[in-house]
Amino acid sequence: MINPIHDIDHVLINEQQLDEIVTRLADRINHDYAPSPNAIRPCKLIVVAVMKGSVFFYTDLIKKLNIPIELDFVKVSSYYAGTRSSGQLKIHLDLKRDDYENIDILLVEDIVDSGRTLACLTENLRGRGAHSVRTVTMLDKPSRREVDYKADYIGAEIPDEFVVGYGLDFDEKYRDLPYIGVLKSEVYTK
Ligand code: PRP
Repeated sequence: MINPIHDIDHVLINEQQLDEIVTRLADRINHDYAPSPNAIRPCKLIVVAVMKGSVFFYTDLIKKLNIPIELDFVKVSSYYAGTRSSGQLKIHLDLKRDDYENIDILLVEDIVDSGRTLACLTENLRGRGAHSVRTVTMLDKPSRREVDYKADYIGAEIPDEFVVGYGLDFDEKYRDLPYIGVLKSEVYTK
């Protein structure tokens, strides 16, 4: 039987550290989106998981939010194969909504790499008339950036290493690891 742990070089962010990061981000989001008693027409906050990589982070994050939210999901891809980014965005699953008036959107991502996914998606949703579009990402790899993009909330900045676990995959494997680990290079260079 194959043990995926043998493919991990080392743990980059362990479960306790992930929980601390999620708590810190949730505290900031709770503060920033706290309902204003003076608002004439309060906005509705939709927290959107960018599938599939964000799924662990998303469920952990929304459990720590104490503000009124609605959930939604979007599936996009900017990678066509292996470890290289194509830089193109395809929407495979869209939000279940036509009217974006008085809607605040918070996109939840596992990682920002080239920056193309969130840059394109943010622009797309702003174009539909959303009141605001912000982004939260667990991981940020600024050294890989191809477009000028910065998430509003960043969990951890990491070096350019191939990370898996906590939702992140290589060829759809390792997503279910409860921590974020660095994949051994021989696994993806075979
Ligand atoms: C990954 C990741 C982000 C995106 C980041 O998704 O989850 O959505 O790539 O890359 P970028 O900043 O270069 O655009 P992927 O397309 O691999 O799909 P997945 O979430 O289903 O793994």
